Amino acid sequence: MSTDHYTPEAQEEAPLGVPHDGLPGVPKRSSWSGKWGFILAAAASAVGLGNLWRFPYLAAKYGGGIFLLVYIVLVVTFGFSLMMAETALGRKTGQSAIGAFSALSKKWKFVGILASIVPFIITPYYAIIGGWVTKYMVSYIVTPAAEIADGGFFTGFILMNPETYLYLIVFLLIVYLVVALGVNKGIENVNKVLMPALIIMSIGISVYALTLPGAIDGVAFYLIPDFSKFSAELVLGAMGQMFYSLSLAMGIMITYGSYFSKEHDLEHSVRRIEVFDTGIAILAGFMIIPVSFAVLGGGEAVMTHAGPGLMFGILPTVFDSLGAAGPILGFLFFALVFFAALTSCISLFETCTSIVADGFHLRRKFSILIAGVFIMVVGIFVNMGYDNLLWMDPMYTLFGIGEYQNSQLLDFFDFLSNTILMPIVALLTCIFIGYVVKPKAIIDEVKISSKFNGEKLFVVMIKYIAPVLLAVILVAYVLNTAGVIAI
Ligand code: PFF
Repeated sequence: MSTDHYTPEAQEEAPLGVPHDGLPGVPKRSSWSGKWGFILAAAASAVGLGNLWRFPYLAAKYGGGIFLLVYIVLVVTFGFSLMMAETALGRKTGQSAIGAFSALSKKWKFVGILASIVPFIITPYYAIIGGWVTKYMVSYIVTPAAEIADGGFFTGFILMNPETYLYLIVFLLIVYLVVALGVNKGIENVNKVLMPALIIMSIGISVYALTLPGAIDGVAFYLIPDFSKFSAELVLGAMGQMFYSLSLAMGIMITYGSYFSKEHDLEHSVRRIEVFDTGIAILAGFMIIPVSFAVLGGGEAVMTHAGPGLMFGILPTVFDSLGAAGPILGFLFFALVFFAALTSCISLFETCTSIVADGFHLRRKFSILIAGVFIMVVGIFVNMGYDNLLWMDPMYTLFGIGEYQNSQLLDFFDFLSNTILMPIVALLTCIFIGYVVKPKAIIDEVKISSKFNGEKLFVVMIKYIAPVLLAVILVAYVLNTAGVIAI
């Protein structure tokens, strides 16, 4: 088929996994409406809770500036190389993850399968956080801002509270509805307006935060690296965050690349997505870390308090201090975060759906049903980690991490995908590209449409630095948590 524009309908006709002109003798696949169509769609998928919710709390937890530095270095070297590899692999084969790996080597199909498991782990807990955001958005309409800013509001909401299931289910049903009705494109268009609004508002909050007493220390903490806080865990944390935020090591960029036309500049697009995604994450840190300093009173307190609740506990104090405008701004802010989370969750769910459709040769509607039920059930299970299953702490009991009951099922799912599976998928992808298909295959693919300025960096990263770094960090981390070595 040869439609010029990527639409859900086109996708319906050519389910993910149908080859296009990437391989000789097979029909053409639908493609994005130009380079910017790809950039905007990939950015809408990439910018989400990872940037706004996850990045700031990790930066706070791992000592601020040093995390930021490691993160940026990783994005421009390893992230760049892996995103080039994934998108080019997709464009070359015209397939999504499983098909793409097996098109080049049957034996390596399992990497595509491993990558495809990741969205099924992330989506359920992503929707839980989406539910929290929805709750905050609604609360600014029905609850006084001072009450939302109260320290107990967040824990009162998430712990042992049937309401959390309601918000999770509502959030997921909205996602399912958008995907089932095929109106994703419309949502993406809305997002193109809302995303700049979110950026403007985040800048406003960041600037205002600087006027709070103690906030300047927070800026210093965020920007000035303290090398004594460097650790293997920090690097692994930054790496997992990079995969999560750029939607790497989970097959998604392979699928996005498979819709990318052979005429457009792949490297330029990849750079744009990286700059945009990282810029928003850094901005989110500016919005949350200085306020955390003002509220919690210092670096040590911020580092120990930083966790999934940071954004929800901290930002309401800003809105509360704004007087009559507070509730309106609070509502607006969480509404914008809600949309960013929604577009990302839609793209996650689309991915799950197409994996089911391709893997079991099912019709799209049936695949939506199966993926939808699966994610709902797992989401409810993970949410029970804050409820009847609060006693379950697999991070501690299985891996000996932290102290008993310091983490919940949500943390465990996050850990499984970001700290275990994604680094493994990334490592295998590097070995596959570096030594099985060879970097030249990717370089040739990139050069079909443009120069490849980062060619040398790409080869060195994919063949040597990234796999060695990944292997060393993974092994060091496992030995460290097992208590064999101390780093
Ligand atoms: N990159 C998204 C975020 O940072 O929130 C998460 C995500 C969205 C991952 C969509 C994968 C995906 F397909």
